[in-house]
Amino acid sequence: MKLSAFGEKFGSTSGVQVLMDDIGDALASGRDMIMMGGGNPAAIPAVEALFQERMRQLSQDPQQLNKLLSSYDPPQGNATFIADLAALFRKQLGWQVSERNIALTNGSQAGFFMLFNMFAGSCNDGTYRQIQLPSAPEYIGYADAGLEPDFLVAAHPQIDELGGREFKYRVQFDELSIGAQTGAICVSRPTNPTGNVITDEEVEHLDAMARAADVPLIIDGAYGVPFPSLIYTQATPFWNDNTIVCLSLSKLGLPSARTGIVVANEEVIQTIARTNAIINLASGNFGAALTQNLVHTGDIIRLSNEVVRPYYEQQLALTKSVLHREMGTSIPWAMHKPEGTMFTWLWFKGMPITSQELYERLKARGVIVVSGHHFFLGIKDQWRHRHECIRVNYAAQSPQRIEQGLAIIAEEVKKAYAH
Ligand SMILES: Cc1ncc(COP(=O)(O)O)c(C=O)c1O
Repeated sequence: MKLSAFGEKFGSTSGVQVLMDDIGDALASGRDMIMMGGGNPAAIPAVEALFQERMRQLSQDPQQLNKLLSSYDPPQGNATFIADLAALFRKQLGWQVSERNIALTNGSQAGFFMLFNMFAGSCNDGTYRQIQLPSAPEYIGYADAGLEPDFLVAAHPQIDELGGREFKYRVQFDELSIGAQTGAICVSRPTNPTGNVITDEEVEHLDAMARAADVPLIIDGAYGVPFPSLIYTQATPFWNDNTIVCLSLSKLGLPSARTGIVVANEEVIQTIARTNAIINLASGNFGAALTQNLVHTGDIIRLSNEVVRPYYEQQLALTKSVLHREMGTSIPWAMHKPEGTMFTWLWFKGMPITSQELYERLKARGVIVVSGHHFFLGIKDQWRHRHECIRVNYAAQSPQRIEQGLAIIAEEVKKAYAH
């Protein structure tokens, strides 16, 4: 069997797949692992109860059930849900959007696949364009989304050491060159894996650069506003007709519904809808059916702000205090200022072993984290910093397990510095 270039690229092992397989193997080993690795959101009882009740209602209403199970939505997505989303964005965020500015995809991951390949790669004018990440570390799911090689390019971040064992990455604009080789700029806000939230000024600067080069600015709001709203700092929601905002129902608690939401100008939305028709015929309507009422009433925002975000804030507060207690002051550890997401990003400056070795040692002790080197997409040099960080998910474990996991991480890191 001879594979095409597509078959070879997508059939070969990607970073994200190796990572998921490794985590899967650790789980399948039957050992009781402390899972601080993946991106699974927490199972929040009040949120689960709400969706359980909605599923009960849907299953008992023959008309709604029929609509849910036995009809294709249009390729752009469920029209009523889209209209409700547009009304919500207009009312709550002041974005000037209509039904023609929104498309649904099967998860935002599928949306990124379409968007990246829509704007980057080989172009009919003979140029080859890339997706520019304002800085890395960035979301690992972007890494292999391009149909062609060498799809992503990223600048190094500036590292501001803030004291109190915290630091913050900032965009180094003088390292960014946005020009004929750029297809789009893309940034996750809040950023997975670091929990960074790029500032309003940084967003405005990126917007100006994108406009000047006539390329879109893609803002990945998988953890952002208006839902699930996992932002713990001041950040103004941003959209205009040159900006593409991608949202998702996953981190609200519905990763299996596979519902991504793209907000963009009409031309982009039409292209997404046409692409979606070819790849998927239609997007699944389960997410829309489960959350339609919440979006219609605006309760999805209340749920995010009053239930989901406080849950994560509580987990984060615990994580921070345990980290300070367990890491102590004998080693040069620091965490990225936790401004959003469900992750803490730890930096062990000058650590004598690599983050991958630390990951292996932690796995042997029954704790799964993610080695930070996976996230330095688009950075080609051997920057030492890329081997000094790990990502720890504080979402899915009980307080006791978080304490246990972090204590083991601290023990292993101290051992690593000691030798
Ligand atoms: C930053 C970011 N963007 C996008 C996604 C994809 O989310 P989904 O495809 O579940 O909507 C994730 C998932 O972890 C993410 O962390």
